[in-house]
Amino acid sequence: MTLDVERIRKDFPVLERRVHDDQPLVYLDSAATSQKPRAVLDAMAEYYELHNANVHRGIHTLAEEATALYEGARDTVAGFINATDRSEVVFTKNSTEGLNLLARTIGDSPSGGESGNEYGVGPGDEICITEMEHHSNIVPWQLLAQRTGATLKWIGLTDDGRLDLTNLDQVINDRTKVVAFVHQSNILGTLNPVEPIVRRAREVGALTILDASQTVPHRPVDLQSLDVDAAVFTGHKMLGPTGIGVLWARREVLDALPPFLGGGEMISVVQMEGSTFAEPPHKFEAGTPMIAEAVGLAAAVDYLQALGMSEVAEHEAALTSYALDALHTVDGLRVIGPDTTEQRGGAISFVLGDLHPHDVGQVLDERGIAVRVGQHCAAPVCRRMGVPATTRASFAPYTSFAEIDALVEGLQHVRRFFG
Ligand SMILES: Cc1ncc(COP(=O)(O)O)c(C=O)c1O
Repeated sequence: MTLDVERIRKDFPVLERRVHDDQPLVYLDSAATSQKPRAVLDAMAEYYELHNANVHRGIHTLAEEATALYEGARDTVAGFINATDRSEVVFTKNSTEGLNLLARTIGDSPSGGESGNEYGVGPGDEICITEMEHHSNIVPWQLLAQRTGATLKWIGLTDDGRLDLTNLDQVINDRTKVVAFVHQSNILGTLNPVEPIVRRAREVGALTILDASQTVPHRPVDLQSLDVDAAVFTGHKMLGPTGIGVLWARREVLDALPPFLGGGEMISVVQMEGSTFAEPPHKFEAGTPMIAEAVGLAAAVDYLQALGMSEVAEHEAALTSYALDALHTVDGLRVIGPDTTEQRGGAISFVLGDLHPHDVGQVLDERGIAVRVGQHCAAPVCRRMGVPATTRASFAPYTSFAEIDALVEGLQHVRRFFG
C-alpha cells in the first residue's frame, strides 16, 4: 500500500508553518533531524501531565507507571529492530553517545592475556572504519587509537561515492579488533553492503558495529539478520524527540564490556571499598534516564510501524528516483554520491556549478525551502569527492513530490539569481 502523504502531513503540526512572507515551509532537511508527529508530542505531554516520577526507585503509583512506560519503550524498540532480548537495548543520549560508549568501554577492557576480554584493544591492534563515516563514527575511534596505541585503518571510496571493497581483505586483517561502519551515508545517501564486511570481520574475529542512524528511520532494519554485534541510532531522526538514542548490542558483548558512566541505577552493591554492577542494560544507564524522551521515542516507533516500514522505504525510494531525475534538469547541477537509485537512500547531495552551497541554501531559504548546506559532519567525504561542501536535500515519510518540484524550481531561481 502506498503512503497517504497528504494525510500523514496533517499529523505534523510544524508542516503547517509559513515562513518568509507567508510561504509554505518546504522541509527537506530530515537527515539532520526529522519533524515530530502530534502522537509523539502528545505522548510526552501526557507523561509529564499524568505520570511524571523517577523510574526504578519508588513504590508509589506514579513511580510504577513511569517505570512501566520507560521499560515499555525498551520493549517497543527491541521489537522494532528485532533484538533477541530487551536487555540488549541500551538508551543513550543519541548515536554519538552510543559510539563513544563503545569506543570508551572497549578501550577500558584489558586486551588479550588471561584476564583480558576478547573485545579489548591494545598496541598492534587495528580498528577499521570507512571514509564515509559521520564524524561521530571517526573521532571516538581516533581517540581510542591514541589512548591504546592501536592503529586506525579505513575502507576508501570510489569516485561515485561507494565503498571500495577491492582491498577489503587487507584493510580488515588478523590484527583488526573492531570494524565500525555506517549503514547509509548521511551525505552521499549510499546504502552500504553489510554482508561482505561482516563476513570478512567474522573471519578475523573482529567486533562489528553498525551506525544505523540513517537507515532505522527509513527502511525495515532487522539487526539479528544483519548479523552485526552492535548498532546505534538516534531518536530525533526517526520522528522522535532529541535527547534519546539507542545502543543495541548482543548480550554477550554487553556482559563483557565494563561500565561506561558510574552512578545510581547502574550498580548492584556499593561499598566504600568498591562496587558491583547491575546487569545490562542498566549497567550502561547511569543516573536518571531520559524518561519522557523514551516515551516519545516509543510513540515514534508506534507511528512508523503503523505506516509500515516497507511502505516508508517504498515512498522514499519513489521520491529519490523522482528527485534524481528532476535535479538532472537543473543546469550545472552535479550529484555528489550515487547518481542512480540503486543501493541508495533519500539523502541527495549536490553542487550547483561553482556556487557556494551556503549561497544556494540562503536563496532557497528565502523561498521557504529548508535544505542542509556544508560538510554534514563528514569532512573526509567532501575532501575525497573534491568539493568544499554540498547542498543536501533529504526526505522522510511526510515528504511530498510537490516539495521536490519546489526545490527544483528554487534551484532554477538560484541559477537566475546568480546569473
Ligand atoms: C550517519 C550518522 N551517524 C551519526 C549521526 C549522529 O547523530 P546524533 O547527532 O544524533 O548523535 C548522524 C547525524 O547526523 C548521522 O547522520
